[in-house]
Amino acid sequence: MTHMRIVSGIQPTGNLHLGNYLGAIRNWVKMQDENAAAGGDTLFFLADMHAITVYNDPASLTANTREMAAALIAAGVDPAKAVLFNQARVPAHAELCWLLNGTARIGWLNRMTQFKEKSGKNREGASVGLFAYPVLQAADVLLYQATHVPVGDDQKQHLELARDIAAKFNTDYAREVFTLPDPIIPPTAARIMSLRDGSAKMSKSDSSDMARINLSDDADMVAQKIRKAKTDADPLPEDPALLADRPEARNLVGIHAALGDETAADVLARHAGQGFGAFKPALTERLVETLGPIRTRFEALRAEPAEIDRILTTGAARASALAKSTLEATYAALGLCR
Ligand code: TYM
Repeated sequence: MTHMRIVSGIQPTGNLHLGNYLGAIRNWVKMQDENAAAGGDTLFFLADMHAITVYNDPASLTANTREMAAALIAAGVDPAKAVLFNQARVPAHAELCWLLNGTARIGWLNRMTQFKEKSGKNREGASVGLFAYPVLQAADVLLYQATHVPVGDDQKQHLELARDIAAKFNTDYAREVFTLPDPIIPPTAARIMSLRDGSAKMSKSDSSDMARINLSDDADMVAQKIRKAKTDADPLPEDPALLADRPEARNLVGIHAALGDETAADVLARHAGQGFGAFKPALTERLVETLGPIRTRFEALRAEPAEIDRILTTGAARASALAKSTLEATYAALGLCR
């Protein structure tokens, strides 16, 4: 069997939140551990080059990049098992993105729901980078011949685009330059929703901090956010299907299930008949149990920026070495003289 090549990224804006953790990072850690034991390569990066597609205060971007690296390590990403770096330290990402811009189609990018959501009514005022964002994301994974890309459900469309770009490039230039990557999406927790609105995903760009649980929130803050989370007045049912029209209730049950690696039915078997006055404290307890140790490690690590920089610089050198052959093969396939 050929080895797995696992690659994924996260934007270093704001805090690592529960949606990132349950939707993606927990899976990163599990796959990293299994892949290290099997002898495959795993690469995780901070997508700082993606972050600049909207205005970010430069000093905050620098600080957030280090903080997000600390948060990932606190959550279990292990620089001894996975290559951890930030995109800006590996110019091959930007280079390959440009090379792929000749293959990606405007019509494909026009269909990306994330661009539509983020540009909103002001499409003409959005940056060119925000529109071309998925091409850089394709470069991120194709550069390393990624076979598996662990992400939350909201990134599925971008990964499908990466496959389309890879397939068209291979066909147009009649060479198998790129591997088609498979998105790996957790069956539970694929999409964690806002605590204030069960129809919007939990996101770092939500203007209300009460909408999300940050991995840096202390136990009191977690308790307060769950207490104030939007719910309804009905007790919990036994059958998960009865939560279909109760998005907020379904989200809280889903979070509880994901934390314990259970199904919604397992959680409801214990809590059916209870109202949220009883369910919310149980959920808070579970959250604090999971997030408490991560937060403690995070607080210790963020006090060591020099150590974080050392880890990211080492990771970038390893990533650049792994990127070299694919980047050269792409230039050569295009007939570009080097
Ligand atoms: P980002 O930074 O928004 O999120 C990082 C990861 O967290 C997942 N996620 C969620 N999962 C479930 N519920 C939620 N509410 C939730 N919010 C976020 C995301 O699916 C993602 O896996 N474009 C990417 C970063 C990126 C990338 C890549 C990912 C850049 N290049 C190459 C994979 C491969 C992004 O903005 O994710």
